[in-house]
Amino acid sequence: MYELINVSKSYGKNQIFTNLNFTIESKKFTGIFGESGSGKTTLVSILGMLDQKYTGNYIFNGINITQLGDRELSTLRKEKIGFLFQESYLINEITVFDNLLLNVLDKENKQLIKRIRELMDKFAISDFLYRRVSTLSGGEKQRVALVRALLMNPELIIADEPTGNLDKTNSEIILSYLKSLCLENKTVIVVSHDEKVLKYCDIQYNLIKNGKLERCL
Ligand SMILES: Nc1ncnc2c1ncn2[C@@H]1O[C@H](COP(=O)(O)OP(=O)(O)OP(=O)(O)O)[C@@H](O)[C@H]1O
Ligand SMILES: [Mg+2]
Repeated sequence: MYELINVSKSYGKNQIFTNLNFTIESKKFTGIFGESGSGKTTLVSILGMLDQKYTGNYIFNGINITQLGDRELSTLRKEKIGFLFQESYLINEITVFDNLLLNVLDKENKQLIKRIRELMDKFAISDFLYRRVSTLSGGEKQRVALVRALLMNPELIIADEPTGNLDKTNSEIILSYLKSLCLENKTVIVVSHDEKVLKYCDIQYNLIKNGKLERCL
């Protein structure tokens, strides 16, 4: 369970959340919808430990992360959370394989390489491992980004508009892969404007302009 308790967040005078209490249930696919500017990215940045500039508490599976130092927090984030964004943020000029190992110190780590191969296989892109990213389609790049998000076997996957740049077929592929992760006991949060996401949700929230989250499923 991932719980925000009395969280308040503002950017200068722009108050986004005031005493927000919000819980993400484990092992479920939670969709968060809402108008542009309502604070969806702000919310998942807090949930993803990317933003610590707020008041209140965040209890991450029993750990109060608001009490952790920067180093502990960044270790926890790397181990426990995988991110997927609208852009894949891969480096075009190098291969898929080199992209996936970019932030890895031990590039010969056999277990990690095995995991890369398994995930590439799972997402039906194993043929692309040694291709330059620039030669991949948008949908293929997003699947590589999903492999990267899952490399460290995170328990929580946060996807902010993951289908924003994709056509219908590729959106459905990414969403069904994300959904399949819940069957592997992972927790998935998807932020979206995309109606195609609705049918994958176990739980659904609408974020309304004043920073209130309404549960609709
Ligand atoms: N770093 C920042 N500094 C100042 N204001 C910000 C910052 N990030 C976001 N905001 C403001 O906070 C509000 C919420 O932004 P946020 O990005 O969370 O919205 P969103 O729901 O994700 O929108 P979209 O659907 O367009 O991505 C907006 O009014 C935005 O202008
Ligand atoms: Mg956003």
